[in-house]
Amino acid sequence: MSELHTDSDSPENNWVNPLRDPHDKRLPRIAGPSGMVIFGVTGDLARRKLLPAVYDLANRGLLPAGFTLIGYGRREWNKEEFENYVLEAVHAGARTKFRDHVWERLAEGMHFVRGNFDDDAAFDTLADTLAEMNATRGTGGNWAYYLSVPPDYFADVCHQLQRSGLAESRDDAWRRVIIEKPFGHDQSSAKKLNEIVNAVFPEKSVFRIDHYLGKETVQNIMALRFANQLFDPMWSAHYVDHVQITMAEDIGLGGRAGYYDGIGAARDVIQNHLIQLLALVAMEEPVSFSPTELQAEKIKVLRATKPVYPLAKTTARGQYTAGWQGSTWVPGLRDEEGFDPKSTTETFAACTLEISSRRWAGVPFYLRTGKRLGRRVTEIALVFKEAPHQPFAEGMTSAMGNNAVVIRVQPDEGVLMRFGSKVPGSTMEVRDVNMDFSYSEAFTEESPEAYERLILDALLDESSLFPTNEEVELSWEILDPVLNYWEEHGLPDEYAAGTWGPESAEKMVERTGRHWRRP
Ligand code: BG6
Repeated sequence: MSELHTDSDSPENNWVNPLRDPHDKRLPRIAGPSGMVIFGVTGDLARRKLLPAVYDLANRGLLPAGFTLIGYGRREWNKEEFENYVLEAVHAGARTKFRDHVWERLAEGMHFVRGNFDDDAAFDTLADTLAEMNATRGTGGNWAYYLSVPPDYFADVCHQLQRSGLAESRDDAWRRVIIEKPFGHDQSSAKKLNEIVNAVFPEKSVFRIDHYLGKETVQNIMALRFANQLFDPMWSAHYVDHVQITMAEDIGLGGRAGYYDGIGAARDVIQNHLIQLLALVAMEEPVSFSPTELQAEKIKVLRATKPVYPLAKTTARGQYTAGWQGSTWVPGLRDEEGFDPKSTTETFAACTLEISSRRWAGVPFYLRTGKRLGRRVTEIALVFKEAPHQPFAEGMTSAMGNNAVVIRVQPDEGVLMRFGSKVPGSTMEVRDVNMDFSYSEAFTEESPEAYERLILDALLDESSLFPTNEEVELSWEILDPVLNYWEEHGLPDEYAAGTWGPESAEKMVERTGRHWRRP
């Protein structure tokens, strides 16, 4: 059988999960014998992200010889048709260069199994296929099942995997399940899903995806906070006035009605990505970066996090109407293909959270996200209190805002510090300036895609970057009161595409004398 890793001298082969010690030679960097089954392989996520990520991993030499990829779905595909579908996805989405020999070796191990998610016969075929692969490709009985399907199907797939003897790990062969969001639509449904999944797979075999945790800049929050001396002393209510976490997107929702209508911005990204960012920014230093210690700190801070009341004043939601996105006139949500023309789904959501701890008491955390906003940017801004005393005459500092540390998650990945500086000249005038660290200028290495990292981590049994069942349930517990309040109180406000959200979102922070940053 041919080796997939080809570029042993490539610098990318030194890649390792940054939460693992790169000097610890005992830790494997390349996945051991294994294969992956993707349920929902014809879906958007698999096509845009998962399949290209598998190719990129193979191309970087990080998959084992004999790695096997099984697609499971309803199409009437044979092996060749499946291969063509994957090839198209790889051409459209892979990050690394296309190389024929890598592709050919990867394609040798591709198969497609046709069936519904509750189909006994199809799962028996799947079991036979996996057994054959174990025998012919050396996958060793080690399988990761990627559930890229709506949560309504989790029960069927888990049940079928169990029934066909595919779910249980043995001493010499592991079975893991990787689960995509949305993980429920509130705390009680998330608990039920956890029960369903955990009845078949023990928690240590469950890898829940939050792809934000796979981003380089998100992991850098830990490096910034815990590897340096500079930031920690000012990382608390003593100096921080408030924190803003913004995930703004300029794209609309055309083509995503099936998933998004009825879900909305808060469930789509606040419950997972933004609350995870909050946990990493606000948690205490973990004893180590082992999954248990890291997750314990995140859980501790999530337990202390609650919405600020009254919700009428501390939250905001909106739905985009038609408008100018740059130089293009774009339709409103209700005119997007597939959306109910009376849809009440929010495409913008903002809320104010607080953390009851010595470090953060009294510091509001403002979270906001939206589609069709001014531009695409995700950032975390710690905005500092004013200096306790200004020895300058008032006019000298009037052009100065609050100091800030801004972690730019994407794009223009980096960290920015904003502070006042004297304007050159014969008078004393202080104005804001930026000190800017940019990944692309400081490093030559290109960051792997979040899904590359997370798929490899799941194959390596490295769970630090995956939220546990408890984290997911706690995130819903934080958000549920806001969602319930919205459910009972009217409709989302309107905002024109290309703006920064509804008026109510501005008011939400202005009433406390603060302002959103214009990223
Ligand atoms: C997904 C959401 O989790 O994240 C999408 O479902 C959103 O609505 C996407 O567009 C954004 O991801 P990224 O990595 O482009 O910021």
